[in-house]
Amino acid sequence: MSPDPAPSQSAPAVELRTERLTKSFGDRPVLRGIDLEVGREEIVAIVGASGSGKTVMLDCLLRLLEVTSGRVLAADHSRRGSPLTEITDAREAVLQRIRLHWAVVFQRNALFSGTVYDNIALLLREHQELPEKEIMRRARESLSACALDVEDVLRKDRDELSGGMAKRVAIARAIAIDPAVLFYDEPTTGLDPVVSGHIHELIWDMHNRPRAGGEQRTTVIVTHDKDLLRRLRPRVVMLHKGEVCYDGSYARFGKADCPAAQEYLREMPVLHGRRPAE
Ligand SMILES: Nc1ncnc2c1ncn2[C@@H]1O[C@H](COP(=O)(O)OP(=O)(O)OP(=O)(O)O)[C@@H](O)[C@H]1O
Ligand SMILES: [Mg+2]
Repeated sequence: MSPDPAPSQSAPAVELRTERLTKSFGDRPVLRGIDLEVGREEIVAIVGASGSGKTVMLDCLLRLLEVTSGRVLAADHSRRGSPLTEITDAREAVLQRIRLHWAVVFQRNALFSGTVYDNIALLLREHQELPEKEIMRRARESLSACALDVEDVLRKDRDELSGGMAKRVAIARAIAIDPAVLFYDEPTTGLDPVVSGHIHELIWDMHNRPRAGGEQRTTVIVTHDKDLLRRLRPRVVMLHKGEVCYDGSYARFGKADCPAAQEYLREMPVLHGRRPAE
C-alpha cells in the first residue's frame, strides 16, 4: 500500500532548499553559505572542478553529512501540501518519512551482495509492505524500463554484472520504489562513451516517466560529464571555492561570467557552436 494520501492541488513547488548552508571539515571550509532552491520536476546538474564540494553538497542534501551551519529543507511527499520540512536537525522518524520518496544512485552503485532480484526486493521491502508477487512485478517492470533483459539479469549475482549493467540495475532499483526525487552521484564515471550515452537516455527517460499518481519526478545529478549536460540540458549549478558561481539554464551557461565557468567551458566547445579539435 502506498503511504501517500490523495494528491493535493496545494503541493509545494519547491522540492529542496538550502539556506546559507556551510560545511567545514575541521577549520577547512568546503561549502560557504550556499542558497539553493530545487523546484519540483526540475533536472538540476551540480557541476564543478574536482574537489569543489559537489559530493559534500549532495551528502548534505541527503543528510548523509551533518551541516556545519545553515539549513536544508525538503518537501514531505507523505504530507502533501505541508510546508517544507527542515531536515538539518530532523528526528530520525521524520527523516525516514521524507526519504521514503527519495532514491539515490550512488557513484559505485552500492548494490548489496546477492542477486539483482535480492537488491530490488530488499529496497522495496524496506519502503513498503508489498506481497512478494507485487515485488516481483515491480522488479521486472523496472528492469525492463532500464532496457535490461529481465530473464537474463534477474537472478544474476551482483558480481556477475558489467559496469554498464550494474549502473542500469542501480537505476532500476531506484525507480522500483517510484521515488519523487532521484539523486545521481556521477552516474557515468568509469563507463565508456557508448554506455554513458545509454545512461544519459535512461536518466532522461526515468525523469520523464510519471509516478504512479501521475506526477513528474525531480532529478538532481552531480556530474563531471559534459556530454550528459549536452544531452539533458539541465539547469546547471556550478560550485567554485565553496560558492555557487553559476546557477541558470544550460543554454546560458556559455555566457556565465564566472572565470571558473569559462575555464570549464573552454573544454566544452560544442556549447559555443564549435567542434572539438580533430
Ligand atoms: N569526510 C571528509 N573529511 C575531510 N575532508 C573531506 C571529507 N569529505 C570531503 N572532504 C573534502 O571536501 C572537499 C570537497 O570534496 P568533494 O568530494 O565534495 O569534491 P567533489 O567536487 O565531489 O570532487 P570530485 O569531482 O573529485 O568527486 C575536498 O577537498 C575533500 O577533500
Ligand atoms: Mg565527488
